[in-house]
Order: sequence, then C-alpha cells, then structure tokens
Amino acid sequence: MTTVRAEQDTVAWTVEEGIAWVSLNRPEKRNCMSPALNRQMMRVLDELEFRDDVGVLVLGGEGSAWSAGMDLKEYFRETEARGLGAVRQAQRESYGWWRRLRWYQKPTIAMVNGWCFGGAYGPLFGCDLAFAAEEAQFGLSEINWGILPGGGASKIAVELLSFRNAMYHAMMGENIDGRKAAEWGLVNEALPLAELKKRVTEVACVLMEKNPIALKATKDAVRRVREMTFDNAEDYLVRAQEAANSFDNDGRKEGIRQFIDEKRYKPGLGAYDKSKA
Ligand code: ACO
Repeated sequence: MTTVRAEQDTVAWTVEEGIAWVSLNRPEKRNCMSPALNRQMMRVLDELEFRDDVGVLVLGGEGSAWSAGMDLKEYFRETEARGLGAVRQAQRESYGWWRRLRWYQKPTIAMVNGWCFGGAYGPLFGCDLAFAAEEAQFGLSEINWGILPGGGASKIAVELLSFRNAMYHAMMGENIDGRKAAEWGLVNEALPLAELKKRVTEVACVLMEKNPIALKATKDAVRRVREMTFDNAEDYLVRAQEAANSFDNDGRKEGIRQFIDEKRYKPGLGAYDKSKA
C-alpha cells in the first residue's frame, strides 16, 4: 500500500530543553526530499529560528535513513514533466532551505542515523556540525543513475574532502560508512547508532552554554573566511566582531570580568556563566 503523506507531515519536530529535534519524516521513502518536504522544511526552519526556547537545532531522519537524497519521482520526473518553471521552482525550494541552514541563527547539528545520498549532502553541509552512526552509509550515487552530483553536491565534496577522495567518491558511486566519513572529514565524529543521540545531546548542551551572539558570529565567520584572502578575512573579522559587540557588548564584558576580576572560570577550559550577564 502506498502511503500518501500530507505535506505538513513530511517533517517532524519537537522542542525539548532548548534543543529543536527536527526530522525528515518520510521513512517509508527513506526520507528522500520531495518538493512537499522541501517546502515544509522551510516552514519549520522559519518557525524555529528565533524562538527563545530554541538554543540548538538538530536535523535527523525518521526510520532507517537520514535522507536518500532527492526524490527521483516527485522532484525529478514529475517536476520535469511540468516544464522548466516547475523545475526552477523545485530547485529554489530545496536549495533555499539548505542555504537557510548554512546561515541559520542558531547552531545546527546533523545527526546522521542512516542512508545519506546525493542531494542530502546539501543539508549535511548546511549544518554546522555533523555526527554520524558508524552504521550510516554515505554516497554520491548520482553517477549510478546517470547524472553529475548537482545541487551543490560536487562543491560540497571538494569543500569537505581531499581532492582525491572527492573525485573517487563522485566518480565511483561507492558508499562509505560513518567511520570512513569521519576519517574523510565529511562528519565530525562517528559512533554506534545506539550512542548517537546521547553524544549529539551532549554537544548541543555545550553549545547552549556559550554566548549565542558570539556563536552566530563565529559560525558565519568560519564559513565566510573560507573564500577570502587572508587580508580580506582579517578585515571582515574585525568588522564582524564590532557588529557582534553592538548586539551584545554586555556578554563580552561579563566574560572578561568573570575571568579577570572574579577568577570564576578560565576561558581556556570552559564558558563564562551567561546567567550573570
Ligand atoms: N527517490 C524516490 N524514491 C525513493 C528514493 C529516492 N531517492 N529512495 C527511496 N525511495 C523509495 C523507493 O522507491 C521505495 O518506494 P516504494 O515503497 O513505493 O517502492 C521506498 O522508498 C523504500 O525504498 P527501498 O529501496 O525499498 O529501501 P531499502 O531500504 O531497500 O534501500 C536505499 C534504501 C539504498 C536508500 C534505496 O532506497 C536507494 O538506493 N535509494 C536511492 C538513493 C539515491 O541514489 N538517491 C539519489 C541521490 S542523487 C540526488 O539526490 C540528486
């Protein structure tokens, strides 16, 4: 029996103790990304971005997959049948939420529980950090069905992998497991599936102790400077810090005060107590 899932049910989410747990929710289709899912994900990201009760957003997948990439039927075949306008719209909707993730206000973590193919590299790279199950499988499978890794996937491969590994990964259409993905730099860490959520929760809790303005400035800075000359980066970072100060001068002053005057903590070993700011 074919499950017809309503658009609003293609993404599941809940907020618990500061963490927004968002999941691609088409497990019966291995969470492949249909136009409906792409639209719904943008709505969910909109809903959560500036909520005071959200400190970190975690992107996971329901069932055995994180995401089996683009929906070959709904995103490609059916959309192409409706002409160029429909194709461009579908591209805007998918690239749109991946871009949104790259510059999201809150820190984001990809929690890759299972299959991760092709187009799924978009949200994988969109998330600031990524943790995978050792059992997860990653692949640029585009070549296996006759296209190039588009939607940014080729770019992401060379951003995250060495040239040789990127080329091998893109040309061979072979999968790598979570452990190899960590070794290659596609994710931060791999650990047994049973321990994945606990580790992600731990990381999210550490992030939530940090100054949120500084975190946003930091994640943007790390992405921006990748494409700058050294001098441009130096200048950008001065301006970015000054801009951050105008939003949150007190936090930074408090961070200095608790270290220098109160000797309450050591920045080299942990974060200052935000609740005192
Ligand atoms: N597009 C459309 N439907 C998909 C996709 C997809 N990317 N992935 C899975 N499905 C559907 C299957 O057609 C099947 O539908 P049905 O129940 O109506 O027959 C259902 O999801 C379950 O899939 P199975 O293949 O039966 O699941 P299984 O667990 O055996 O295999 C696997 C999982 C390996 C992920 C397999 O589904 C697969 O190879 N999917 C395609 C992966 C891929 O190459 N994606 C495209 C990447 S390139 C890009 O994104 C541009």
